[in-house]
Amino acid sequence: MAVIDLKSDTVTKPGEEMRKAMYEAEVGDDVYGEDPTVIALEKKAAALTGKEAALFVVSGTMGNLVSLLTHCSPGDGAILGQKSHIYYYEAGGMSALGGILPLTVDDSQGIPSVEDISHWCRPANVHFAPARLLCLENTHNKGGGIAVSPSTFREVAEGAREMGLAIHLDGARIFNAAAAWNVGADEFTTHVDSVQICLSKGLGAPVGSLICASSTFIEEARYWRKKVGGGMRQAGIIAAGGLYSLENNIERLAEDHCNAALMAGILAEAGIEVEESPQSTNMVFFKTPSSLDEEMFLSSCFSKGVQFSSVEPGRFRLVTHIDVSREQVIQASHIIAKEVQCWS
Ligand SMILES: Cc1ncc(COP(=O)(O)O)c(C=O)c1O
Repeated sequence: MAVIDLKSDTVTKPGEEMRKAMYEAEVGDDVYGEDPTVIALEKKAAALTGKEAALFVVSGTMGNLVSLLTHCSPGDGAILGQKSHIYYYEAGGMSALGGILPLTVDDSQGIPSVEDISHWCRPANVHFAPARLLCLENTHNKGGGIAVSPSTFREVAEGAREMGLAIHLDGARIFNAAAAWNVGADEFTTHVDSVQICLSKGLGAPVGSLICASSTFIEEARYWRKKVGGGMRQAGIIAAGGLYSLENNIERLAEDHCNAALMAGILAEAGIEVEESPQSTNMVFFKTPSSLDEEMFLSSCFSKGVQFSSVEPGRFRLVTHIDVSREQVIQASHIIAKEVQCWS
């Protein structure tokens, strides 16, 4: 039995056309700047985000890390959400490798308030690590896949700028945010100094992310990428999959959002506590009664053909993506609904 895998949008496998593009990719040594496919990918990403240049990196984590290392020096503070991926899920790289102090703020609504950010922008004083950078995330993963609106995003970014902060955007799913609000990704990225975009999430490519920013920023980021071991040689093979995804898979993200809404509706109708989000995307979070044995519940769902995960005790995440169809989403929702009733 084929399992319907809803644990993440990172589980997608390249389809035939993408594999063909990878197979046929023209390659060169990218550390020497000689890989034409990587160059084409970087140009495409820069154009989509309205930035001067881009840098191909191995992963979203590396994209965020290299960006933070480029923005900050050891002892600098970076303001970021308590639930942000950089703070919560990236192994403390910013502190371990950059000596950067995380200055955390509430981001339960998907983006911190200007007021909360301002608390960390303190006058120069020998006691304080200076806050240099604000990190935002859109869509916000742990926050529920929320897509922050262009107007709220702009308001917060402008507020941060007035406080003298540079801004980095973890845009692992920025094209989902753009699809949710029916705007171009540049509606968001224009307000930040650097953005990291992931090819290996909803876009369906197997590997890779890009940092998009000014040419001078990217030039410096290139050194940091090398220092953390991220300089790749004939990377055009994987860049070709990414380029294919940017050319073919952005528009279809809206389908994943429709499927997620469909799933949320079926679960809610079955009496399950589904988290409501002002602008939902490809993620559905739901809660279960404390009486439910999580391990048994997850393994029973798996045995019936649906896989997903728990993000916190009693809180589960389902993610739609290119490799699950509307029919599979409906089937999975009914299985989950039945299992919740069974195990509660
Ligand atoms: C919001 C966000 N940022 C960054 C990352 C890191 O990406 P990677 O797994 O490619 O390192 C993820 C991964 O899921 C993510 O959800």
